[in-house]
Amino acid sequence: MSLPGEAGKSVFITGASSGLGRQMAIEFARRGYRVALTARRLDMLEALRPELQQQGARAVFVAALDVSDEAAVTQVFADARAFLGTVDIVVANAGIGHLGRIGTLAFAKARDTINTNVIGFMATVDAAMRCFAAQGFGHVVGISSVAAFRGLPAGGAYGASKSAVTAYLQALRAECHGSPILVTTLSPGFIDTPINRGAKSRPFVIPVEQGGKLLVDLIERRVECATVPRWPWAMLARLIAILPTGVVARFR
Ligand SMILES: NC(=O)c1ccc[n+]([C@@H]2O[C@H](COP(=O)([O-])OP(=O)(O)OC[C@H]3O[C@@H](n4cnc5c(N)ncnc54)[C@H](OP(=O)(O)O)[C@@H]3O)[C@@H](O)[C@H]2O)c1
Repeated sequence: MSLPGEAGKSVFITGASSGLGRQMAIEFARRGYRVALTARRLDMLEALRPELQQQGARAVFVAALDVSDEAAVTQVFADARAFLGTVDIVVANAGIGHLGRIGTLAFAKARDTINTNVIGFMATVDAAMRCFAAQGFGHVVGISSVAAFRGLPAGGAYGASKSAVTAYLQALRAECHGSPILVTTLSPGFIDTPINRGAKSRPFVIPVEQGGKLLVDLIERRVECATVPRWPWAMLARLIAILPTGVVARFR
């Protein structure tokens, strides 16, 4: 059977049990990819497996993985690579989003945010780069956020974690310049998933089905950086970055 575009390629996704990771897995399956799904909740991944096979995935690998355990990241990545043969795309997506003002949010939650969104993300990218160096090509995708553009009240730990994601990928993109290794940073605005369902307001929120499709379209187009959806966030992110502190202080 011939499939269009990126048919038959393979993708490794962290945080595939819910939200954007789950929806990207469905979207990649529809496009005929071989997919490796990881998250801590193995039961959710096992439940997703038949749907992906039915949607057109050419092969499905699932494994439990806590990205904050770097030894586990190395092991699970090696297992996925052995199953997939080559790994064309790695989507470092796993993330959490505790909100609370600094000095009020339990510090354990701030630490968990950094452990998952920064250390776990870096461990995933590190495993991807070792694999890509050996196979001679690859595409790293990091899921950042529009929260990376400006630290906001109650979003200190989350914003710091996403600024770290964006800066880390900027460095990696420069390191890979001119090589067959591509680096993409995707910065969603509000996409309807469990991570933001408790938020007081979710401006310009879009459904997860639309978000997953936009993310995979951007990955297949191999963009360097994009907000998701592109509008109005490409403009708003830049505006938020230059707002006076007195204006930002009124948020939330
Ligand atoms: N939705 C939005 O509006 C939005 C906006 C900007 C950025 N983002 C980013 O998009 C990414 C996905 O979020 P989402 O919206 O899809 O939220 P979600 O529905 O809550 O999904 C988060 C995913 O991350 C996984 N995860 C959390 N901690 C993990 C850990 N220690 N190890 C491995 N996996 C872990 C979860 O799986 P398990 O619990 O099974 O491990 C789950 O699959 C995050 O990085 C988030 O910051 C989302």
